[in-house]
Amino acid sequence: MGAITLLHIMLLFFFILLSASYQSSATGIGANQTISLFVNASEASAKKIPETLFGIFFEEINHAGAGGLWAELVSNRGFEAGGPNTPSNIDPWSVIGDESSLLVSTDRSSCFDRNKIALRMEVLCGGEGTICPAGGVGIYNPGFWGMNIEQGKTYKLVLYARSLGPINVSVSLTGSTGLQLAATNFVASDVSNWTKLEAILQAKGTDANSRLQLTTTRKGVIWFDQVSLMPTDTYKGHGFRNDLFEMVKNMRPAFIRFPGGCFVEGEWLRNAFRWKETIGPWEERPGHFGDVWHYWTDDGLGHLEFLQLAEDLGALPIWVFNNGVSHNDEVDTSSISPFLQEILDGIEFARGDRDSKWGSVRAAMGHPEPFDLRYVAVGNEDCGKKNYLGNYLKFYSAIKSAYPDIKIISNCDGSSQPLDHPADLYDYHIYSSANNVFASAQKFDKASRNGPKAFVSEYAVTGNDAGKGSLLAALAEAGFLIGLEKNCDAVEMASYAPLFVNTHDRTWSPDAIVFDSSQAYGTPSYWMQHFFRESNGATLLSSTLQPNPSSSLIASAITWKDTEDNRHLRIKVVNFGSNSVTLQISIDGMEVNSLQSSGSTKTELTSSNVMDENSFQVPNKVVPVKTQLDDVGEEMDVVLSPHSVTSLDFVLNSDKIRIFGSDSVDRSSY
Ligand code: AHR
Repeated sequence: MGAITLLHIMLLFFFILLSASYQSSATGIGANQTISLFVNASEASAKKIPETLFGIFFEEINHAGAGGLWAELVSNRGFEAGGPNTPSNIDPWSVIGDESSLLVSTDRSSCFDRNKIALRMEVLCGGEGTICPAGGVGIYNPGFWGMNIEQGKTYKLVLYARSLGPINVSVSLTGSTGLQLAATNFVASDVSNWTKLEAILQAKGTDANSRLQLTTTRKGVIWFDQVSLMPTDTYKGHGFRNDLFEMVKNMRPAFIRFPGGCFVEGEWLRNAFRWKETIGPWEERPGHFGDVWHYWTDDGLGHLEFLQLAEDLGALPIWVFNNGVSHNDEVDTSSISPFLQEILDGIEFARGDRDSKWGSVRAAMGHPEPFDLRYVAVGNEDCGKKNYLGNYLKFYSAIKSAYPDIKIISNCDGSSQPLDHPADLYDYHIYSSANNVFASAQKFDKASRNGPKAFVSEYAVTGNDAGKGSLLAALAEAGFLIGLEKNCDAVEMASYAPLFVNTHDRTWSPDAIVFDSSQAYGTPSYWMQHFFRESNGATLLSSTLQPNPSSSLIASAITWKDTEDNRHLRIKVVNFGSNSVTLQISIDGMEVNSLQSSGSTKTELTSSNVMDENSFQVPNKVVPVKTQLDDVGEEMDVVLSPHSVTSLDFVLNSDKIRIFGSDSVDRSSY
């Protein structure tokens, strides 16, 4: 009996030990553990990070462009969203007045050949013996869930009108309480032909939920078409909403991939983004229904505007084009020639000289200089589809023979085995749980260093771990990006997806930037990307964690040079675990006193709950917080908070460590 009891006790101890060791490996690091980080600053073990490693992916999804970055305030400005057949739906336009005083319909009488729908307004009141209701009758447009009209700001209104008789139309910007914020009148005796009417409206009040009203008290029939209201204050007058543009600019993206995503493919080819339909005067653009994300775009943000956006951001444009493959239908390779020509024309539009056929169209649109288009992607997520490879090869050889320098991105994943076709880069997308994304930091450890490099053009934590943008998601993504830095000889580019969401059309969650008509905030994933802004073109130093709790800690070290030629050392560490860690840092390979003691900082992204998110109410709940770092030296201890990403930044005294050439980026704060 005594022996059995002893055996029981021993077994019990064994199980307690086993379960303790399981728990510590599941959470990664035990409480108050000390981990060493060895950084080797010598050139021999360093790698040059591509200038292009971190950029952005802009997709027309979640009303990112229409009703978002593109500042046009009128939704469905040409009345085309209801389709080409009449009568049609005029959503989101609404009627002011009832059927006894006006009849509103659509017809195909527009002066614009590529968008024939116009709005016909037959005003029944205001003639002999009838008076229109006070304020008149007409139509209003609520914009994209409300127009943001701001006191003192000016708005350019353009509309086209036609009538059989004289017109007197009141145009007003009206706040949600009915208060008139700006108004003007269009009075004309002869608009029997379509006439362009313009006005600048200055707001005398602010309301983020305003609308545009067109009303009259005069009997008659008036047609309206192409009604546009643009803030005059957009980024460089280029049509980009300032606050959203600035948020993107602050990410300092090296490239911008556009315009999608699935948006490029379409559910059906007939609804895919076709660049030729998006250029020329805005009034003449037909617009199209994006059938994957289920909304109409007037395509004010078209091929030229995307290229302009890239230029304004100082980012390289990466044009993703449709290669004859949508989600549900495909063009046979034997019939792909017209698609090839369309894309060659699109490249010429971007970078042909101003005397070329399509370069001259670009020049006529106000951009005589070519854009710096160096990359194109053949389709999106289409590898393995019936005609993808056949079509791809046609595009590859047509583009390479016309533009040998353009880098071509294949949809097929070359990370685990070599591609069976020529490509300069291969596309890789990852949407997964936080654990999977964090663990994917090692994804490219074994990827080929000889063939095409990876373009991780879409990455994000999704599902329950992410919510609408959690700290947990951002930490896993930061870990993943550190893995990409460490594999920068196999990965050339990476971008988070999606970039934007209008909170009123959250088709896809999470996203980096959340906005409505008047305000915006960054999710933790947005702020996480700021930790990598200086990495493009920087020098990656060799760094090792010991012991290496790879399930919960990952670190990298870079040196970079700012525009004033000051050199910096940055150590980034993600603590994915729920315990704080003391990091003992040893930097080797630098001359003594290379680290300046003043100006060293610690920037941390963390929060009390790993599922914390930002919101319009508390936009800065999870944002980077910078503090001064004391006791700086080649050997130092830093405490890492649980669930945190930390950047340790040091100014280096002159050239005491040798780093590669042109690792220069702007210096600024988070
Ligand atoms: O980023 C959202 C979507 O995810 C993209 O359109 C598509 O490429 C991917 O499936």
